[in-house]
Amino acid sequence: MTDSPHAARRARVARALQAGRGLALVPTAPETLRNGDAHHPYRFDSHFWYLSGFAEPEAWLAISHTGRCELFCRAQDPAHEIWDGARLGLQAAPAALGVDAAHDVRTLDELLPKLLAEHDSVWFPFGLHEGLAARVEGWLAKLRQRERSGARAPAALHDLRPLLDEMRLVKDEAEIALMRRAGEISAAAHVRAMQACRPGLREYQLEAELLHAFRWAGAAGPAYPSIVAAGANACVLHHPAGDAELRAGELCLIDAGAEFQGYAGDITRTFPVDGRFSAPQRELYALVLAAQQAAIGQTRPGARKIDAHWAAVRVLSQGLLDLGLLSAERHGGVDDVIESAAYRAFYMHGTGHWLGLDVHDVGEVLQRDEPAVEQPDGNGGRVVRAPSRVLQPGMVVTIEPGLYVRPSAEVPERFWNIGIRIEDDALVTPAGCELLTRGVPVAPDEIEALMRG
Ligand code: GLY
Ligand code: MN
Ligand code: MN
Repeated sequence: MTDSPHAARRARVARALQAGRGLALVPTAPETLRNGDAHHPYRFDSHFWYLSGFAEPEAWLAISHTGRCELFCRAQDPAHEIWDGARLGLQAAPAALGVDAAHDVRTLDELLPKLLAEHDSVWFPFGLHEGLAARVEGWLAKLRQRERSGARAPAALHDLRPLLDEMRLVKDEAEIALMRRAGEISAAAHVRAMQACRPGLREYQLEAELLHAFRWAGAAGPAYPSIVAAGANACVLHHPAGDAELRAGELCLIDAGAEFQGYAGDITRTFPVDGRFSAPQRELYALVLAAQQAAIGQTRPGARKIDAHWAAVRVLSQGLLDLGLLSAERHGGVDDVIESAAYRAFYMHGTGHWLGLDVHDVGEVLQRDEPAVEQPDGNGGRVVRAPSRVLQPGMVVTIEPGLYVRPSAEVPERFWNIGIRIEDDALVTPAGCELLTRGVPVAPDEIEALMRG
């Protein structure tokens, strides 16, 4: 069966293994204990899910260069299922998942050496699953013991990650549909939180609004711990929703996204707790929004991933000079501010990352096969770096500039403790990019109108 996206992806892996007559092994993630005998909510391994669409723990895929794919999974077991729910089981798995055969995962150590003996190389994700390399070694050792009776062990071990990472970097149609939905759900949750916001609430109460919206819409939950930051807490980049009170006159920064069918949304909005931006808040907000717009303009096929960052940095640096957060006397013009990295006092993170099954998704950022270039190192010197990845349609990146102003004698007091980030998710299209997360307003007037309504 090759009509599911998962089967099509497995077929691509098989084709890549043909030259080396390889076998690819991909386990899913283990269940993990939270405390006592209570588990964390189960989350499958992203590579495994990408290739199988199978959410149960204790499962493996073995994909041969021949195109044959075998699944190892939990056998049905009424005594366990009464506690933990139904298992797909060995009989139903081939038709449900389009694999050629399904085996009881308890037979892995018995069957894997036999399967490996039919292949010249073995591929698995290096450095991702604890104990996996040792387990493969054990199977190979078992085979080598039988060499005198004619068995042959694969002679080469390869890391499967670069192949899968490259595949996942450019999203297929099925993935794009899921990411659109993750973006919609995430945006609706931000709308709900903005509408619920009023002075006197606590950060955790807005987090509760987000969780409600995620689950109500059928998402698994948050794709990463939700950041809800009242006032000065916004200057802590990864401030988890805590118990701080939301106060009139201050901003609230929310960085939160839903995970839908494995795919992450990742949105940040910053809005006034009482529904009206003050003058200094609006000035800084307009600057971050202009920086985001500049970065969006650089998010198109043929541009390098880093171009969006430098476009945002240029706008922010000029604005920091214009608003007096950086003094021209001390720091010079915009080129000097960029060269010396003086802007990093207020903008210390990157402008975006790949997004997909992981919120910071897989995929190389640096393209190693292109000549190196020089860039500022942030300390007044220069470093030689490979150029950044060239964007192509189907890639998804976040675009998330920000400004974070801590109290300092060098900065006008009216800007103190303001932290602003604006983040949207962009699908690179043939013409430029499509923002998947604009179901929540970003323009200050529209945010105020939403909060009034
Ligand atoms: N929410 C994590 C990030 O924006 O990178
Ligand atoms: Mn992000
Ligand atoms: Mn984010």
